[in-house]
Amino acid sequence: MEQKSLPKHIGIIMDGNGRWAKKRGLPRTAGHKAGAKAFREIVKHCRKREIEYLTVYAFSTENWKRPKEEVDAIMKLLGEYLDEAFQHEDENKEICVKIIGDVAPLSTELKEKIRKLEEQTKNNVGITVNIALNYGGRDELVHGVKALAQRVKDGTLSPDAVTEELISSVLYTAEQPDPDLIIRPSGELRLSNFLIWQAAYSEFVFMDVLWPDFGAKELDAALEQYAGRSRRFGDITAK
Ligand code: IPE
Ligand code: IPE
Ligand code: MG
Repeated sequence: MEQKSLPKHIGIIMDGNGRWAKKRGLPRTAGHKAGAKAFREIVKHCRKREIEYLTVYAFSTENWKRPKEEVDAIMKLLGEYLDEAFQHEDENKEICVKIIGDVAPLSTELKEKIRKLEEQTKNNVGITVNIALNYGGRDELVHGVKALAQRVKDGTLSPDAVTEELISSVLYTAEQPDPDLIIRPSGELRLSNFLIWQAAYSEFVFMDVLWPDFGAKELDAALEQYAGRSRRFGDITAK
């Protein structure tokens, strides 16, 4: 594929699993299972397209409002993905996995899987895959602000020294570039608390396809749209 300009960092809101299942007369959990499959394929395709960072929204801080059965099924699928990625070390040697979000309320078992996989993949070079799990953009800012307030209290930070860069450095995505492109399938036109600080100058692509049906073709179509955008960052000429 001809590519004029390629995003370094892509964010994807993996939405539409429930509707995908409903259309087929299946339980919502079947939609999440199909969504997990689509995620595996997209990681491979992003690697193929030489995308350096991929952040996927897997579970929001608001998703706890869902029935326990559904929450448990999503957590189980995440655990399975982590196990599988850990076991297939060879296939995944170009993938560095990071979980972004508040892991504190997750089960001890899931936290241990996360710790092991992050440790195993931390030096992998190729693509960094951030899985946003119990992630909320506002919650992320609350955590960051608390950390900075503590430094001020300890006398190691002056309020005047707070800069945009410093705030970025206390977020889960510290040291990573901001997302250039954010894709939301499923037809919804909102961010739903995803990367709200980091998305200040992101390009958005909204698509009508439901997440389990999202594949290489859809990703390439989004990349095509991105390549046609003119990013100015407030200036009068494209960057
Ligand atoms: C996204 O699909 C997955 C999560 C939010 C965990 P949904 O479950 O939100 O699917 P719809 O939006 O109900 O179709
Ligand atoms: C956003 O989808 C969260 C994830 C995809 C994980 P939701 O389905 O939770 O978003 P809303 O409720 O439609 O805004
Ligand atoms: Mg949804």
